[in-house]
Amino acid sequence: MKKKEIQNKYKKKIKLIHKLNKFYFDKSKPIVSDKEYDELKKEIILLENQFDFLKSKISPSKVVGHKPSKNFKKSLHRVQMLSLANAFSEEDLLNFEKKITNFLSKKTDFKISYSAEPKIDGISASLTYKNGTFVKGLSRGDGKVGEDITENLATIQDIPKNISLNDFPEDIDIRGEVFIQNTDFANLKDKFANPRNAASGSLRQKNSEDTKKIPLKFIAYTFGFEKGLSVDNQFDYLKRLSKWGFKTNPFNKLIIGVKNLIQNYHEIVKKRTDLDFDIDGIVYKVNDFTLQKRLGNVANAPRWAIAHKFSSNKAMSVIEDIEIQIGRTGALTPVAKIKPINIGGVVVSNATLHNEDEINRKDIRIGDTVTVERAGDVIPHILSVDNNKRPKKSSKFAFPDKCPSCGSKTIKDINLTTKKEDAVRRCSSEDYFCKKISIEKLKHFVSKEAFNIDGFGKKIVENFWKLKLIKFPQDIFKLDYNKIEKLEGWGKLSVENLKYSINEKKQISLERFIYALGIRHIGLENAKLISKHFLSFLKFKNLSKNNNYKDLLNIDGIGDTQVNSIKNFFSNKMNINILNELDKVLIIKSAVVENKNGLLKNKTFLVTGKLIGISRAEIKSLIEENSGTTVSSVSKKLNYLIIGEKPTKKKVESAKELKLRILDQNQFLKMLNKTS
Ligand code: IVH
Repeated sequence: MKKKEIQNKYKKKIKLIHKLNKFYFDKSKPIVSDKEYDELKKEIILLENQFDFLKSKISPSKVVGHKPSKNFKKSLHRVQMLSLANAFSEEDLLNFEKKITNFLSKKTDFKISYSAEPKIDGISASLTYKNGTFVKGLSRGDGKVGEDITENLATIQDIPKNISLNDFPEDIDIRGEVFIQNTDFANLKDKFANPRNAASGSLRQKNSEDTKKIPLKFIAYTFGFEKGLSVDNQFDYLKRLSKWGFKTNPFNKLIIGVKNLIQNYHEIVKKRTDLDFDIDGIVYKVNDFTLQKRLGNVANAPRWAIAHKFSSNKAMSVIEDIEIQIGRTGALTPVAKIKPINIGGVVVSNATLHNEDEINRKDIRIGDTVTVERAGDVIPHILSVDNNKRPKKSSKFAFPDKCPSCGSKTIKDINLTTKKEDAVRRCSSEDYFCKKISIEKLKHFVSKEAFNIDGFGKKIVENFWKLKLIKFPQDIFKLDYNKIEKLEGWGKLSVENLKYSINEKKQISLERFIYALGIRHIGLENAKLISKHFLSFLKFKNLSKNNNYKDLLNIDGIGDTQVNSIKNFFSNKMNINILNELDKVLIIKSAVVENKNGLLKNKTFLVTGKLIGISRAEIKSLIEENSGTTVSSVSKKLNYLIIGEKPTKKKVESAKELKLRILDQNQFLKMLNKTS
């Protein structure tokens, strides 16, 4: 590696650790694991040790004591904190009950009473009370050893500090869940991913004063070690807890038999949206302590309890509003703003409604109670509407016929191939005229596959647009850095970094450049094809002058839809101006034709029909590797038509008419000195 390369590599790592530090220390919102952070730190120090010339003021080798120690004192749980086995279906529950009756050697009709307790998704804690005084509080840790977080727990109002009732045991570990209510979480949304993280983060603050600022709650549900507890079943224990001053779950219920558990489950699922705290299932515990004792534990979970989990990727919520988002191509996408709900560990507050047709088909309205699904990383969507819960006064959603951003008429295109109306409604304005389209186009311009300007993210585009620093792509390369340095959140170093990233990208390949323009239907692949065809920026730009759009049809892979879109792009004077302005500030590198002197130099090919043992994609790359080009239609510009099985008759006939050379697979391979 050259010195410059090493320096760049080092700079990148320093920049990254600086960013991680900011997230960790200033925003209390780490974006990588401790392990990843430590690894990066190690890499930086290793590089510095290896190369003397590497130096940075903000290197982790210089900045010490930045990261607060998160180590709390460890403490042994007197009785292990167990976990729970999971059930997802009625079948799982029947199995659970069957195992219990078998274990206890009871007849199958033996009735079991369960304490059914909605399972709050928080952080469990164990509170030791001696003679009625709260003396110590531990986190779960690994179940055997926890962390001593007494001081932090003591800041929680729901945790009684002294209990002087005579039925309170002389020594007991009260166990329960620390959590944060959804309404309180709303104010902390920017800091944490979900209420559970917020609770966990605040509970483990080094300084209990910081914990105090967060409105944590505590609900009690079980115990560990006890001396002097005089109840013989779980439900009575829950009643005692509330008598002693602890909060318990208001939806706890005593239930007999699996059928009734299932009924209760469905009731709770429906109630879930109305609760102010996240629950991720229901815990069922055999109510009788004597039976619990007999049943005992398997590994680290009790035989007498199970967690009936809610399906992790679906949840019900209420649509509070329907917003219309406008994309880079002017597409109007309706988005449901829903009452925030935790789906599989992620708080969801937006769900896409896809397009106008989807809203009409499902008759989705503001105020509707809906089932939302979140699968993997895709944007959550609405599965169905619960018509029974529809408010009386609701009315059909009227999709806007004017663009909410610029007021232009919204239109539906006619698909060129199917001749049908598109499902998507679009803003009919000319690109940069519409504010929202313009912002989205700029976001696309700086994005990863386009100009890939480091550190120039979506938020910065929005911000700079608002501040009138950028309006058109060329403005990015003429930024007023002095002005930016004075903005909140910016400083010398960050402005230097931004300047560096922008300048670095002033040289760009023609294909990335074409892609960055954000012409509708011209994605990465098409941009590549067009770049290979025109080779230079000038030739591409001259398309408008020569009005020779048909030429584009010769490119294999480019069809009418793309040609029309390019034509549209060039017919807009604003776009021509953008091209001219960008040309002044950028170096747009011409595409390189590899192996210009191959066997198929200056020859064009078209394949029709099925070839044997070789795919279309392979033959295309074979032609290109040997300096030939493939085209998509029969014309005078075509030199060779390669025919396979069942060729398109029309193509063969036109080729004959034009007296073009027609080859079969073997003849073609012979041209390359290959035989099949
Ligand atoms: S009882 C032996 N009861 O669920 C029983 N746990 O995976 C174990 N939880 O770590 C605890 N609500 O954080 C119990 N009503 C409830 C609960 C509950 C939530 C959590 C707790 C535990 C986890 C078990």
